[in-house]
Amino acid sequence: MTEALHRLVYHSSSRIVGADDDVDEALRDILAAARRNNPRMGVTGALMFTADSFVQVIEGPRAAVERLFQTIRSDTRHDGATLLSFGPVAERAFPHWSMAFVGGPALQRRFETFARDSGYDPARISADASLDFLQKMVRAQEQGARVAG
Ligand SMILES: Cc1cc2nc3c(=O)[nH]c(=O)nc-3n(C[C@H](O)[C@H](O)[C@H](O)COP(=O)(O)O)c2cc1C
Repeated sequence: MTEALHRLVYHSSSRIVGADDDVDEALRDILAAARRNNPRMGVTGALMFTADSFVQVIEGPRAAVERLFQTIRSDTRHDGATLLSFGPVAERAFPHWSMAFVGGPALQRRFETFARDSGYDPARISADASLDFLQKMVRAQEQGARVAG
């Protein structure tokens, strides 16, 4: 059972400080670690960064997801990690991504519209709404990547 596919969604507050370049560098480091480590753990997912908060979806074998979440939650680049959902799922939401990233200015604009229309508040976030939003954003990126060749 420990190998059954599970999905975990959490929200946290960023503790990355500094100028935009410092933030970009910290995000690049986090994504590099994810892309280095997640494939061999059978983990896929998506990470969203908006101004001062993260939402991350981690999916894979249960034991791997639990272990990774233990590592991530003790990372000082964020704190207040709040578990939004954890449980078995039939299939992956982000099968093609060791860790998709959703962030940057384009996201910020869409996110603001989404947040206004849906009443989405990162501090009172629902796992389903987050997953839905992340999937939409990642799908848009996949379309863009295909169009861009
Ligand atoms: C918001 C956030 C998300 C992270 N996501 C991942 C991840 O998906 N996979 C991963 O290996 N590390 C992730 N990390 C980094 C880990 O906390 C840790 O620094 C890293 O796994 C260490 O990797 P290393 O042993 O290869 O240096 C994340 C960190 C933060 C702050």
